[in-house]
Amino acid sequence: MSTAAVPHADAPSSPGRGVVLEARNIVMRFGGLTAVDDVSFQVHEGEIVGLIGPNGAGKTTFFNCLTGMYKPTSGEVTLGGRALPPRPRAVVTAGMARTFQNIRLFGNMTALENVMVGRYCRTSSMALTSILRGPKFRREERESIDRGRELLRFVGLDDKADHLARNLPYGEQRRLEIARALATEPQVVLLDEPTAGMNPRETEEAMRLIFRIRELGMAVVVIEHDMRFIFTLCDRVLCLVRGALLVEGSPAQVQSDPRVIEAYIGGSEDDDISADELTEEDVEVLHAEGVDVEPSRTSARSENGR
Ligand SMILES: Nc1ncnc2c1ncn2[C@@H]1O[C@H](COP(=O)(O)OP(=O)(O)OP(=O)(O)O)[C@@H](O)[C@H]1O
Ligand SMILES: [Mg+2]
Repeated sequence: MSTAAVPHADAPSSPGRGVVLEARNIVMRFGGLTAVDDVSFQVHEGEIVGLIGPNGAGKTTFFNCLTGMYKPTSGEVTLGGRALPPRPRAVVTAGMARTFQNIRLFGNMTALENVMVGRYCRTSSMALTSILRGPKFRREERESIDRGRELLRFVGLDDKADHLARNLPYGEQRRLEIARALATEPQVVLLDEPTAGMNPRETEEAMRLIFRIRELGMAVVVIEHDMRFIFTLCDRVLCLVRGALLVEGSPAQVQSDPRVIEAYIGGSEDDDISADELTEEDVEVLHAEGVDVEPSRTSARSENGR
């Protein structure tokens, strides 16, 4: 596998390929709050899966359960058919890496050093070899530097190798986190809001980058609030609401599902607003976000129809 692979936009979608990641009946409770409520899903080799849902829906908590940051109250996660222990390091070593909603880089280390940190789970040098700095340590360090530079080039940060992470602009920090995740040589990459705070040009670049990651054979699960991004990028989309899986389907199916639209505009049994009461302005906003909504579902209809 080489990061020199040339991307192409019409990468095949994955259904039909083997399951690489599976979560079965994940429940995560915090006291009386059920943040993740019996969620199951499968991710296939080379697939890009989107996870959407309103604020507080449980998306990040679900990622935390998948990656061993949280031990789920119940449920099981398997990677390549093997049960994953709920320990972050074990999960990374098994082949799943992630980025964080709130960027977690080593600010006082350079971009290259940050990527090299990701390599450590794949190098064999133990503490003693590091102290003695024997030939094996030096060889592995050289390889880590070469691989780190290659990954920086892959995410478009080759000219930033020696910059401190904390001095990089926000969008570049997000790409650096992705490079660090890739350095662990994962089969599956989980991205938690990779375009948060990015401008449209950076978002476009992030989308191309994720397509190129898939080109390298990895599966990607991505949490995002930017619907246009999600529906353009993903092969399949899941929508979580109040911890539970509300809808799962192709971007076209999820985009036009009235339950998803209701979830986003706050329509629920607790709320007076429903999809039937969208104003023209609501519809414009939803269209701008890439959500398909029928023009008839507007306030004009509520005024006339009820
Ligand atoms: N460690 C924790 N202790 C207690 N409650 C938690 C904890 N982590 C998350 N929660 C709660 O679980 C719920 C789901 O939060 P989570 O961060 O997973 O939502 P999210 O879908 O990622 O939202 P956002 O889109 O805003 O990032 C929220 O009510 C949150 O307050
Ligand atoms: Mg979140």
